[in-house]
Amino acid sequence: MPLFPVYKTWDINAVKARGCVITDDKGREYLDLYGGHAVISIGHSHPVYVKALSQQLQRIGFYSNAIVNPLQERLAEALTRISGYPGYSLFLCNSGAEANENALKLASFRNGRDRVLAFKRSFHGRTSGAVALTDNPSICSPFNANHRVDLIDLDDFEALEKTFTQHRYAAVIVEGIQGVGGIREPSASFLQKIRDLCTARDTVLILDEVQSGYGRTGKFFAHQHAGIRADIITMAKGMGNGFPVGGLLIAPSFTPVLGQLGTTFGGNYLACTAALAVLQVMEEEDLMGNSARIGSLVKNELGNFSEGIREFRGRGLMIGLELRQDHPASSTLRDDILMKGQIFTGAAGPNIIRLLPPLCLNEEQAETFIKFFKQCYTSHQ
Ligand SMILES: Cc1ncc(COP(=O)(O)O)c(C=O)c1O
Repeated sequence: MPLFPVYKTWDINAVKARGCVITDDKGREYLDLYGGHAVISIGHSHPVYVKALSQQLQRIGFYSNAIVNPLQERLAEALTRISGYPGYSLFLCNSGAEANENALKLASFRNGRDRVLAFKRSFHGRTSGAVALTDNPSICSPFNANHRVDLIDLDDFEALEKTFTQHRYAAVIVEGIQGVGGIREPSASFLQKIRDLCTARDTVLILDEVQSGYGRTGKFFAHQHAGIRADIITMAKGMGNGFPVGGLLIAPSFTPVLGQLGTTFGGNYLACTAALAVLQVMEEEDLMGNSARIGSLVKNELGNFSEGIREFRGRGLMIGLELRQDHPASSTLRDDILMKGQIFTGAAGPNIIRLLPPLCLNEEQAETFIKFFKQCYTSHQ
């Protein structure tokens, strides 16, 4: 039976990975600056993570949410300490899209409304509710017509004020930094304006930190750089370092109703063990500090590299390199980086390279990429 072909894949068969290095079946080593799409947070096969998961699997791997699970409590406690959101509660699910669907549901249950404000170029997942929150043509579906969603540009203050006077929104949903949309960060003043309008109109502010969260930008959540607080924060990707875990942090003003949210797999023993090991390693190895430090190094080296880069965007280890389209090196750059440089990177459209490496990326590894990147441009001259 053939696979349903929905992915464009590189012909690389990875058989082993440690830290930021992936080895294929031919013994070739690749530097991982993609982190399996921002998922590998503490590094591949971290010994603390491997040991914790193996031991947990030998004790008990799964039971349903029908019985208490002390690991969920421990994870909630750890997140309370690390996230900067004391007093919030935790709901666990399995993925980013699922976290966002649950957040929208909670918002509409709370204020009885059904209209949502979202942003152009956003990405909140591929489930039928989440695809209605974007204008991304590759995922929009006829289902979108069933949803009441308005889309405006990031940082369009005029459109924001206007639409808030016209509609009473259940929720505003915004990414801390847009990932799939090309690493675009809303300004602090725009996020603050959204916060004020949401508070004034009893609208729920949902921060989608699925890609930008979990220490990637040097703070636990990207929106914390703007000094605002969200009503619901959605998380996934880096949370489980590869084990599927998603979650919501929910403000104390929400009243839980039995049966309103639920999941079969969410918050199972292995998922919680993975998430706890991630937080432990993040703290012990100061990976948030490392993201900020290595991110600055890359910015210092490439921020002004105008031969190849039209715009450098992002924070910490969530980096977007918008390439100069008028330079011949740009057209084959991503292939060259992978095939000749043996470095994994991500993309956002044809001319934006995305770097989303494990947060343990070290200086030498960052320099390897920078050197190769610059070489690609200079050797074309
Ligand atoms: C910001 C954001 N939200 C939600 C999602 C969807 O996450 P998942 O693929 O785990 O459903 C993604 C995935 O790329 C994302 O980047």
